[in-house]
Amino acid sequence: MTQRADLAIEMFSEENIRGVAEIAKRCFTTPWSEEIYRRELENPQSVGFVCKDGDAVIGMIHCNFVLDELTLNTLCVDADYRRQGIAKRLWNAVTEMMQGVCTVCYLEVRESNLPARKLYESLGFTQNGYRPRYYSQPDEAAVLMQCAL
Ligand SMILES: CC(C)(COP(=O)(O)OP(=O)(O)OC[C@H]1O[C@@H](n2cnc3c(N)ncnc32)[C@H](O)[C@@H]1OP(=O)(O)O)[C@@H](O)C(=O)NCCC(=O)NCCS
Repeated sequence: MTQRADLAIEMFSEENIRGVAEIAKRCFTTPWSEEIYRRELENPQSVGFVCKDGDAVIGMIHCNFVLDELTLNTLCVDADYRRQGIAKRLWNAVTEMMQGVCTVCYLEVRESNLPARKLYESLGFTQNGYRPRYYSQPDEAAVLMQCAL
């Protein structure tokens, strides 16, 4: 599908943090609360971007970092906007910002989440571990992945 140039990428802010929590609710069975995302605004070890269609948050990515290690916590795009390169644009925004700061990124993904696993492979991640029964609601193993930045 063609990419829409009018969809803006912005950093997490007071203005869009409610939209961040709302898209997390739409996309995940155990989302972080608005309060948790709001606290991340004050966290200097946190980096987050949204993709907006007008005022609506339709995609977001959130990561934390310690020294040179980045952890990708959340990446989601609303169902109607998928396969338009938005997740990739959000990831590129993070890697651009973290250039010269982080050298590696880690993440965990549900074993059955093939769209996400395909996305991460396309971004250069490779599997470096496996944790049985890591997730709940529903119970499921985690595939651990890493990528050099
Ligand atoms: C996973 C997710 C974030 C992908 O977002 P997206 O904006 O559709 O991804 P992109 O359009 O940037 O995809 C980039 C590449 O990833 C791969 N990919 C993405 N979705 C895929 C799918 N459903 N099936 C196969 N490959 C897929 C493809 O290689 C794709 O490139 P292509 O479209 O040129 O083939 C989205 O499906 C989503 O929000 N899912 C629900 C939440 C979730 O599971 N998040 C990840 C766990 S934290």
